[in-house]
This record gives sequence, structure tokens and C-alpha cells, in this order.
Amino acid sequence: MENLKLIAQKMVSEGKGILAADESTPTCTKRFNALELESTSSSRQSYRSMLFTSPELEKYISGVILFDETFHQNITSSEKLIPLFLKERGILTGIKVDTGAKNLANYTTEKITEGLDQLRERLQEYYKKGADFAKWRAVITIDNQHHLPSKACIIANAHALARYAALCQENNIVPIVEPEVLMEGNHNIHTCYDVTSFTLQTVFEQLDLMNVNLEAMVLKPNMILPGLNCDTQENNSKIAEMTFEVLNKHVPKKVPGVAFLSGGQSSDLAAERLNKLNKLYHQKRPWQLTFSYGRALQQDALLNWAKKTGDDAQKALINRAKMNHLASIGKLD
Ligand code: 13P
Repeated sequence: MENLKLIAQKMVSEGKGILAADESTPTCTKRFNALELESTSSSRQSYRSMLFTSPELEKYISGVILFDETFHQNITSSEKLIPLFLKERGILTGIKVDTGAKNLANYTTEKITEGLDQLRERLQEYYKKGADFAKWRAVITIDNQHHLPSKACIIANAHALARYAALCQENNIVPIVEPEVLMEGNHNIHTCYDVTSFTLQTVFEQLDLMNVNLEAMVLKPNMILPGLNCDTQENNSKIAEMTFEVLNKHVPKKVPGVAFLSGGQSSDLAAERLNKLNKLYHQKRPWQLTFSYGRALQQDALLNWAKKTGDDAQKALINRAKMNHLASIGKLD
């Protein structure tokens, strides 16, 4: 367990965050097709190779989360497998191990994340092939009109997250525990606070029940935000204040770090809000507050890559990585 604690600390070490590049093939295809890019195994390999070979990525990024396909690919035009390439750059390798969010029986407008079957065996294989950490994402939808989320959805997802986390630690892999309360909807910021509060409380109860070592995990939550279609959009100070409050209430001090997802915020807002959090709470926070962004790190890079300007794509990624590095120490101004 000591080694896992060190890896967890490294994942959230001061000034660094995580690049989430673990979009499933259907999600990646959707993003490519929106830019009229063909999505094939080799186009995904070139795009991700472009990301991972960006100069100085290791200055800002502690770890990268991969999808299974990428985990087994080489860096384009090299013999080197991607996990080994990352290791040689001093970057940790993460692997998405859930198999996606499926309809929850009897609550079919809600989702339960699956993937526990054969997870022990899959983790053992990933560990042998160089995985340092894993990710499992649960999704919670807010819909006031239909009284969502249900208690059933939150408890079932929290239970699955805890069983996943215990299995990861049993197999020498640090779990990223990701309960994502989605931004879609017209709910206000207080509803997001209440739902996130109950979700985090339930997740930590389940982690405790499953004897998960809190020093050897990383929490990946949403920030407290109003729904995308809510008429009242709060300012960044209010968002930072409510986000810190909910974390302070539920996240034990033993957890080494909180690495937020971007969840559909613009790249600028995701960085500015992380910055505000660290500016306001740098002295008070018992855990690191950093990023594990997918879209908010990759969006500009993907746009440039679509225009076939390889260098600019790498520059765009590094620009966002650097902005979030500064935000994670409250120095983005
Ligand atoms: P976004 O930052 O694009 O929300 O992706 C993070 C992630 O890993 C979702 O599971």
C-alpha cells in the first residue's frame, strides 16, 4: 500500500494534473466526426501520439488516462508502446476500466456504470503491462421535473465505485473515484450542491464499508455549478466557495488530492474556476486541488489537429496544460 500512496501523491503533486485522454471509441468518433475527421484505429493512434509527444508535457502533467485501445498501441512511427513511452517521460499511465454507463433497471432514465465482472483479472493484466492507476466514472443526472436523481441511482453507483476502488488497491493500482453530477439541465447551483453533497457522502460511506485506503486514491468530482440551461449563472467566486464547502464537508483529509473533471465547461472557465479555488483556499485546503480534464485540455489541440497543423496542436495542448498548472497553484492571472 505504501507504493500506492506514493503514486497517488505523485498524481496530484503540486502544480501538476492529469490529462484524461480515455474517450471511448464511440465518444472519440463523435468528436472526430464533428470536425469531419475520420475515426479509425490508426487516426485515433496518430491523434493521441501527437498529444503524448508534445514537448514538455511532463512539466505540467503527472499522468494520462488511456482507453484500452490506446493502452495497447505504439506511439505512431515508433516501436514503443504508449505506457512505456509515458513512463520514460516520467508520466504515470492510467486506464479507464469501467465498461460504460448503462440503463439502471427499474430506473431507466438513469445510469449505472458497469464493469465489475472480471475486473480483478483485467486489473492484473493492466498492472503487468504498466498501469499505475485506473479510472471509473459514475454519472448522476439532475432533473427536477422528474425528481432525479433517485436515491437508488446514487447508492448503486457509489457501491460500484467502492467495489472497483477496493479491487484496484488489491491489485496494486491507484483508483480514481469519479462520481460526476452532470451539468446538463436547468437546475440551479443549490440543487447541484445538494445532489453532490449526498453523492459524496454516500461514496465515502461505501468506500469506508469496503475498507478502501483513502490515502491511496484520488477523487475526481464535478465542481458545484448551475445547470447549463439555468437562468442564473453564478460567478467564479460563488462556484469556488460552494465547491470548497461541499468538499470540506465530505472529503476526509486523508485523501491526497481532488482532481476535477471539466464536464463540458469551456476551457477558459475550467481553468479560471480551478484558479479561483486555489487562490481562495490555498491555505485551508487539506488536499491538493487540481485537474483531470479531458475536453478542457484537448479542445484547442483537436481543432488544430483537424486543420492538420501538428505543431500548433501540440502548442495548444501545452498552452492549456500550462494554464491549468498555474490554476492548480492559484497563479493564473
Ligand atoms: P471532461 O474533462 O471532458 O469532462 O473529461 C474528464 C473525464 O475523464 C470524464 O470521465
